[in-house]
Amino acid sequence: MSERTHLRGAVLSFTAKPDSENHPAVHYLEDGVVTLADGLIHGVQSVAQFQKHGGKLQAAEDLRPGLLVPGFVDTHIHYPQMDIVASYGARLLDWLDRHAYPAEQRFADRAHAVQQAELFMQRLFQAGTTTAMTFTTVHPHATDALFTAAAAVNSRMIAGKVLMNRNAPADLLDKTDGNRENRLLLERWHGQGRLAYAISPRFAITSDEGQLAAAGRLLQRHPGVYLHSHISEHPDEVAATLKLFPHAEHYVDVYARHGLVTDHSLFAHGIHLRDEELMRLHEGGAGIAFCPSSNLFLGSGLLSLQRLEAYGVTMGVGSDVGGGTRMSMLSTAAEGYKVAQLNGENWHPLAAMYAITRGGAAALNLEHKIGTLAPGFEADLTVLDAGPGSAAERRAATPSSLTDRLFKLLFLNPEGAVSRTYVAGELRYQRAIAA
Ligand code: GUN
Ligand code: ZN
Repeated sequence: MSERTHLRGAVLSFTAKPDSENHPAVHYLEDGVVTLADGLIHGVQSVAQFQKHGGKLQAAEDLRPGLLVPGFVDTHIHYPQMDIVASYGARLLDWLDRHAYPAEQRFADRAHAVQQAELFMQRLFQAGTTTAMTFTTVHPHATDALFTAAAAVNSRMIAGKVLMNRNAPADLLDKTDGNRENRLLLERWHGQGRLAYAISPRFAITSDEGQLAAAGRLLQRHPGVYLHSHISEHPDEVAATLKLFPHAEHYVDVYARHGLVTDHSLFAHGIHLRDEELMRLHEGGAGIAFCPSSNLFLGSGLLSLQRLEAYGVTMGVGSDVGGGTRMSMLSTAAEGYKVAQLNGENWHPLAAMYAITRGGAAALNLEHKIGTLAPGFEADLTVLDAGPGSAAERRAATPSSLTDRLFKLLFLNPEGAVSRTYVAGELRYQRAIAA
């Protein structure tokens, strides 16, 4: 029999989006045991069931008062932008010129890419994130570096070379439509272990029609490959896009006319989309990555979650580092809560926890593999508690309900709340000071 790991704590996951604690999609055990074997979840039981089935509690690692949740899914992040978090003073288009492009130019150096990719994996796990959909740079070796680092720790990673052939610094531009490099990378990495490829035109401003058309042809030839891009983030960007594509009906049409709006497509932001654009995304089965910390930091706008839901557009959550200011998905969800408040909407903390776990998995068509703690799912999980030595710890010690417990995790000490992260059953991060 394979070696088993038993973890004891409170256990929470979802089988659909909940709107209250009593919703049948909420699966919560106040005192439970999660059993891992061969990189998968083998069992999720209450302590009583575990013992009834012959389990010995001495064999379980006692992680109480920790809360075991599925590893977080960050549906939109830029690994080359880790070092430009908190760069002062700009809206999207000038922020790209002043901060993002210079950071990405440094990835011409392969050794820098390798070092940053390894650091990125550590930082993801430190944040409790076990799956990410990640932008790289135009340099093929930056994508190789990321996949190599993710494969070394058996982490789910969706990424691809950035496509850009205009309106950016010359040394960051593809000299061709980028299809040859994309094809080589895709053949090398897509479907290897837990890795998947995403064709990644940066956004419409930086690709001409020819490059978008080539991306669409490649996507069509490779079912299962993703499309990852940005859309309708800031009004200035929307205006510039419509000027560059005068024949398009609207921003979504710029992508849709090249076959880029599919059920494997995920677009970051989507704040300023019109009703007919949301309908078009829904018809194509494409999703939006909600990136609240970035949207607030760059002053891009307030995405309405209610509108996305009304049009049936799938939603994941993205940290969007470096436009976003934190890699923590708890912190990102807390920013999302504030965006909902400013929109006069309400984002229940259980719905937020769903969104950063199973919801993100669903936006990536991976909800049958990750995002839920149940037998047969991949053993990616994160252990949360109040964090050591803080005022947060004292207050979080006495939650009045599950909702209250989650709310305190989101707001009191989100960065310090991750005590452990397991990836495919292996312990990959452990906080230095025990709570
Ligand atoms: N739109 C195009 N590129 C980027 C980027 O790097 N960050 C953000 N936030 N938006 C973008
Ligand atoms: Zn982005």
